[in-house]
Amino acid sequence: MRRTVIAGNWKMNFTPDEARAFINEVKPLVAGKDNCDIIFCAPYVTIAAAQDAAKGSNIKIGAENVHFAEKGAYTGEVSAKMLTACGVEYVIVGHSERRQYFGETDETVNLRAKAALAAGMKVILCLGEVKEQRLSGVTNEVVAMQTKLDLKDVTAEQMKNVIIAYEPVWAIGTGLTATPEQAEETCAVIRETLVSLYGKEVAEETAIQYGGSMNEKNAAELLAKPNVDGGLIGGASLVAEKFAVIVNAAQ
Ligand code: PGA
Repeated sequence: MRRTVIAGNWKMNFTPDEARAFINEVKPLVAGKDNCDIIFCAPYVTIAAAQDAAKGSNIKIGAENVHFAEKGAYTGEVSAKMLTACGVEYVIVGHSERRQYFGETDETVNLRAKAALAAGMKVILCLGEVKEQRLSGVTNEVVAMQTKLDLKDVTAEQMKNVIIAYEPVWAIGTGLTATPEQAEETCAVIRETLVSLYGKEVAEETAIQYGGSMNEKNAAELLAKPNVDGGLIGGASLVAEKFAVIVNAAQ
């Protein structure tokens, strides 16, 4: 049975001290909530402080991106080897903000995912349609194509370490949430695509999160859908009580 995964994406928020304070605040609120995996993906410079504060708890700390090369002349980038050397197990790849503002494409997202998987990391692979695509009725085609391109040459064995985050771009940071029906329908399309790529067993084992203005109010309804196996949460992952409500909704 696949696990539910509730992951916070802090984006460019929290200094090391703020991250430590936040983890100390959220830790008791989610203690013992073992029906889901709980992860916070942090800016590189706050990872160590967050890990330190999370020690001994059920909270795991991940990164927000990873480069595909092992090392070299890639100013500003961080490799999978560097992350694993820091004890980081989870990493987000292909977030729409990376695609939108930093020129990442399905091709580079695929390279980043493969590099992280080769290093033994667990990848949260983000994909989703933009507003024009949803309005044009091509969402299903878009997410199926992204799933295929972003997972190109990822093996069935490696899929054990892949979590997919379906994030409609129009819902991220906008306060507009996909309806539970929209989230369910599109997550089901992604799962069907996984069936075509890897077969039913792998597809059924892969967690598919919803992301995009998930919050303490709408989480329960979204998480109740059979193909929604968790959430990738931005804004609401910066407020301990809100995040804890979402974790509770997943129990
Ligand atoms: P949001 O962000 O919850 O603030 O919409 C989600 C995400 O970008 O992963």
